[in-house]
Amino acid sequence: MRIANRVALVTGASSGIGEATALRLAGAGARLVLHGRDRGRLSALAERTGGLAVSGDLAEPGAVERLAAEADRLGGGVDILVNNAGVGWAGPFGEMAPADIERLVAVNLVAPMRLTRALLPGMRDRGDGHVMFVTSIAGRTGVAGEAVYSASKAGLDAFAESLRLETRGTGVGIGVLVPGVVQTEFFQRRGRPYERRRPRPLPVERVADLLVGAIAAGGAERYAPGWLRLPVAVRGAAPGLYRRLAARFG
Ligand SMILES: NC(=O)c1ccc[n+]([C@@H]2O[C@H](COP(=O)([O-])OP(=O)(O)OC[C@H]3O[C@@H](n4cnc5c(N)ncnc54)[C@H](OP(=O)(O)O)[C@@H]3O)[C@@H](O)[C@H]2O)c1
Repeated sequence: MRIANRVALVTGASSGIGEATALRLAGAGARLVLHGRDRGRLSALAERTGGLAVSGDLAEPGAVERLAAEADRLGGGVDILVNNAGVGWAGPFGEMAPADIERLVAVNLVAPMRLTRALLPGMRDRGDGHVMFVTSIAGRTGVAGEAVYSASKAGLDAFAESLRLETRGTGVGIGVLVPGVVQTEFFQRRGRPYERRRPRPLPVERVADLLVGAIAAGGAERYAPGWLRLPVAVRGAAPGLYRRLAARFG
């Protein structure tokens, strides 16, 4: 898909993968709508990229619809939607407060569905557009201590796959980016730092390059890094072996 002069809406643009993606899209000539909660960081990015900053909490009722309406102010409709905003939670499932379960699912799964619901019809009418979802390897393999997070990302994955089938032949592309570990504030924010030695966290710029490359190519999925497709393939082909390995190596 051509990116220059297209309107691209990026959620979670105030930090990490979203911010780096917004900078790449701006470099490729897109007109940006930048969403997040941190107004200071959003306005600084808007100034750097010439984008429109829209702040709000995606877990709040009506926030998604307000964002879609604001994005329309740029005129012509949103051509590229990057559903990137997300939050983590790590710890034993039995200790997760019910309100935290709801909030995580609201931000990671319900908000991208609602935002896509608001913007997809316009793309279909124009016969052109691309929707990207930032999922996670956790949603493809499951991770101990991240049951709700993994489930939210698996849900997003299944949603994207289903939409891709549904939009075939309409001119609208649907893609997922499946990251492993990326160097962002994600781990501090979820309350548990990343402490493993391997895999090493990827630089955020590399992930943004993969994401924007996937939009340009119209690809269905990209792993970041690419070797992550291996554990997913092993889990699909030999689930017993995969579970023994996962129990041993985590
Ligand atoms: N980092 C990793 O290793 C990793 C791995 C796999 C998948 N991912 C996924 O990648 C995506 C981006 O994460 P990141 O690593 O870039 O983390 P990050 O630096 O913490 O960025 C998260 C972004 O989501 C926004 N956000 C969070 N809650 C929100 C809410 N309630 N309403 C509106 N915006 C909200 C944040 O906005 P504010 O800062 O303005 O609150 C921020 O811009 C997430 O979906 C995450 O699950 C990350």
